[in-house]
Amino acid sequence: MKILICENYEHLSEVASNIIEDKITANPKCVLGLATGGTPEGTYQRLIDKYKQGSLDFSSVTTFNLDEYYGLNGRHPQSYAKYMYDKLFKHINIDINNTNIPQGDVDDIKKECKRYEEAILEAGGIDLQLLGIGTNGHIGFNEPNAYLKTKTHLVKLKEETINANSRFFEKKEDVPTRAITMGIKSIFRAKEILLLASGPEKAPIIMELLKGQLSTYVPASILNLHPSVTIVVDKAFIEYL
Ligand code: GLP
Repeated sequence: MKILICENYEHLSEVASNIIEDKITANPKCVLGLATGGTPEGTYQRLIDKYKQGSLDFSSVTTFNLDEYYGLNGRHPQSYAKYMYDKLFKHINIDINNTNIPQGDVDDIKKECKRYEEAILEAGGIDLQLLGIGTNGHIGFNEPNAYLKTKTHLVKLKEETINANSRFFEKKEDVPTRAITMGIKSIFRAKEILLLASGPEKAPIIMELLKGQLSTYVPASILNLHPSVTIVVDKAFIEYL
């Protein structure tokens, strides 16, 4: 596990976007796993800048997002589909048919989870998975629990996750209580993992992760077993130590 400590959020975003740029340059047909939340926004903006400067071509890239709120239509302003479209896809030359996000408003949820899992495999698996982390250690929406599910599944969100994500909604009651998320194995199968954590509130959970112990109550701790993980943090992490 490699840890890169950056000066600030802008630096973190630059470093993360450089890693993604290198991946696309080395393999223009690469499959990227993408994340939502506040943390990767700066990285996406940097990728857009690089595209506009002509140094990046997304035309052959395929993407799979980690998760989506259950019950939200892809056009809902707080859906992760809309987030991805607004914050990245509409600004770059990606083929929208090559972007994948679990569908949150389907009738047959099991079928959708199975379809999503198979689509990742059919694409040849994820080359680089971008991750954020919840303050409770969740990755995607794999919440701390006595057990962790391995494949894409429907999950009930923890109170702390609903509270944390309520900042993106008008009121807390509007936050969906369930979500579809890639499972731990779906994430773990990625060849490389890039986890971003910014700000003092993420420092304790990163410390926990770096202890090198495994616990289903810290879902991100599973990353200790992965052969290629880079964690990018900002100085707030050092200040916490
Ligand atoms: C959300 C997402 C995660 C994300 C996490 C942290 O719940 N499902 O994929 O990593 O929250 O979000 P933020 O970056 O806004 O702190």
